[in-house]
Amino acid sequence: MSKKIFVTGGAGFIGSHLVQRLVNEGHKVVVADILLRGNKINPETFRKIQFHQADVRDSAAMLELSKGCDLIYHFAAVLGVDVVADNPVETMDTEIIGMRNICHAALTNGIKKIMYASTSGIYGHSAIDQTVTETINVDPRTSYAIAKRYNEIYLAAMYQEKGLESISVRFFNIYGPGQDERMVIPRFLEQARKNKPITVYGTGEQTRDFTYIDDTIEACMLLTEKIKGSEIYNIANEHEISIRDLAEKIVALSASKSPIQFLESPSKRYDYEVGRRWGSSEKLFGITGFKPGIGLEEGLNYVLNSPLKRVV
Ligand SMILES: NC(=O)c1ccc[n+]([C@@H]2O[C@H](COP(=O)([O-])OP(=O)(O)OC[C@H]3O[C@@H](n4cnc5c(N)ncnc54)[C@H](O)[C@@H]3O)[C@@H](O)[C@H]2O)c1
Repeated sequence: MSKKIFVTGGAGFIGSHLVQRLVNEGHKVVVADILLRGNKINPETFRKIQFHQADVRDSAAMLELSKGCDLIYHFAAVLGVDVVADNPVETMDTEIIGMRNICHAALTNGIKKIMYASTSGIYGHSAIDQTVTETINVDPRTSYAIAKRYNEIYLAAMYQEKGLESISVRFFNIYGPGQDERMVIPRFLEQARKNKPITVYGTGEQTRDFTYIDDTIEACMLLTEKIKGSEIYNIANEHEISIRDLAEKIVALSASKSPIQFLESPSKRYDYEVGRRWGSSEKLFGITGFKPGIGLEEGLNYVLNSPLKRVV
């Protein structure tokens, strides 16, 4: 059944893929975004939505724009390791004031459910030697991760006290066409394309779990349908790869001549001190029968062959 759906951060990387999927499925979509990194929604899809250059920190705007909607995807955020390190107050304000405004708008406008983009960053150093499940103790330390964790708890409180349903999805390093160079994969791809050194912070032994965008959107859609109450789900590919191996893979797949250059990690890049991080999607699989399955090499080839241009 066609719904009217409010998407914050809908012009961003993940938001724009989500908006495209929602429009393809026949939903009416209203997007609020301040376009920090330009507009990543493709022109054809853009013509079919209602777009507002509006800030989630503006309570009146959120209240007005979400009127008549059935569901909210709250994806607006300030992110990127360096961006967050340089702008911790804006990062936290966007998260915390934004979430308060979105919940207020949902309650006032009778919107029953919110999907919120949380992060695997909240696990911090807590799971060095195991794939992380939603039940382990979290250890958020950056302004970004602490605010995301606060919001997860705020959403649980909102359900307990006011009956507002929510799903917090903890994304594990999502990548795909249209992503910009704040993130490691597009940065390495661009360096490889130009045959410039691939710059790796630290030893490159740190591992991450990279999840392809189409798998991510599929998981979000299935969870939105299934979940009642207030829940937290990992969306992870369940494979760890070291940043050094990622750099080598990208050089090989791009047939590039780039050398790999190891740089000392600036102390503000706290995130790079997390030695290992990879996630379990078992809980997701248990409720939806689906888990991300697009392998890294396959996903990187999709990005390399995509006509989608990066924005900013
Ligand atoms: N990309 C990842 O690997 C990843 C990992 C974990 C969590 N997440 C979360 O997923 C969500 C989407 O991330 P993304 O990769 O698409 O990032 P993105 O930066 O491409 O998109 C975020 C969008 O939010 C918008 N925005 C920022 N502040 C705003 C404000 N005050 N009001 C309205 N709009 C605002 C930006 O303009 C941008 O278009 C974010 O909440 C992010 O924290 C992403």
